[in-house]
Amino acid sequence: MSSYVIRGARLLGNDPVDIAFADGVITGIGTGLDGDEVIDGTGLVTLPGLVDLHTHVREPGREDAETVLTGSQAAARGGFTCVHAMANTSPVADTAGVVEQVWRLGREGGYCDVQPVGAVTVGLQGTQLAELGAMADSAAGVKVFSDDGKCVSDAVLMRRALEYVKAFDGVIAQHAQEPRLTEGAQMNEGPLSGELGLVGWPAVAEEAIIARDVLLAEHVGSRLHVCHLSTRGSVEIIRWAKSRGIDVTAEVTPHHLLLSDDLVRSYDPIYKVNPPLRSNDDVEAVRDGLADGTIDIVATDHAPHPMEDKECEWSAAAFGMLGLETALSVVQQTMVDTGRLTWEQVAQKMSATPAEIGRVANQGRPLAVGEPANIVLVDPAATRTIDARDTASLSRNNPYAGLTLPGEVVATFLRGRPTVRDRVLVTPLSTEGASA
Ligand code: DOR
Ligand code: ZN
Ligand code: ZN
Repeated sequence: MSSYVIRGARLLGNDPVDIAFADGVITGIGTGLDGDEVIDGTGLVTLPGLVDLHTHVREPGREDAETVLTGSQAAARGGFTCVHAMANTSPVADTAGVVEQVWRLGREGGYCDVQPVGAVTVGLQGTQLAELGAMADSAAGVKVFSDDGKCVSDAVLMRRALEYVKAFDGVIAQHAQEPRLTEGAQMNEGPLSGELGLVGWPAVAEEAIIARDVLLAEHVGSRLHVCHLSTRGSVEIIRWAKSRGIDVTAEVTPHHLLLSDDLVRSYDPIYKVNPPLRSNDDVEAVRDGLADGTIDIVATDHAPHPMEDKECEWSAAAFGMLGLETALSVVQQTMVDTGRLTWEQVAQKMSATPAEIGRVANQGRPLAVGEPANIVLVDPAATRTIDARDTASLSRNNPYAGLTLPGEVVATFLRGRPTVRDRVLVTPLSTEGASA
């Protein structure tokens, strides 16, 4: 394998320095370093490979929308070296067999590590616990369990799931949506939903489940993760829970950091997502929550859908938007360029902490000698006008199309092998490395 040196890039956005790596491992950080291949890092920022705790690949079942391979390629283009693949596939990832298949497809692709998320309940049906232990014991080593797309709304099942995963240090990632309060819901409940005549999805339907779940997590002494927080009240509940010492973590998506419900005026289903885009006040609150540490991480909720499921009338359209290839740019625009986060904090919230929550040992590691060479090189001065066709994803449901966003991924390295080079996806030289 070639050895590389990235010369003069700003490590975690701090001072320029050289970073050298060979055989998948960082071998030097300093000045005047050498390697077989030299990359000019002038003006660029070096971050650890990003880790997404919330990605939807559609394999098995909807390979027309996304496969493990194309999702991995989109991830690499976005600077990710690891993604967690949600369980709402077809068949559902509720057995050791399915999670092992997804895990293996990720390793074979070689673009990024794909850590399967196991379903909490059989078939996401919300009635019977899935084989959590068998998935944890499988080759995929599942630590994160979620019925995402659906809420584990039964309090007894949620309690049992929280108790069960304690044995192997697992975590339940909850899609917080009280089902009765959101029957037929189409958009954020507020003055606009009334005006547009669309059934509202009230903030309380998210907040009530989060409040219940943090109390359950406290009661049974388990670890809880809350997916895609989207309201001011949710941020306040998590802040309260953390102040009580409850073991809870929370994520926000790039789209909830940037976009708000006034976009729904267009009736363009590209903006239809679950939980829905919220008010500008909620957007402010999630930005503040991410900046002050109440919200631990950014996770994409990358949700590919084929054209026919998005280019139709609003109420018939699928929920979800792409996110992997634009996440870092949206975070730069909303959090870094506004002075709310440093790049070092971005590395924490998009790499170290998501890996820690998912208990992925060899990802999200610090950029230091002896550590795996999972590295992303970013050009923060670049701007790009987003083109929905310019994607590795099989889907085109990109809500940022036409917007000009800052920042571009110049290179991504997975265990020292380039998956993106000179801003372009490259074929990994080998698919070896599954055990690293
Ligand atoms: O918008 C969403 N899309 N929210 C979810 O919870 C599920 C996801 C999907 O699978 O498309
Ligand atoms: Zn969800
Ligand atoms: Zn999701």
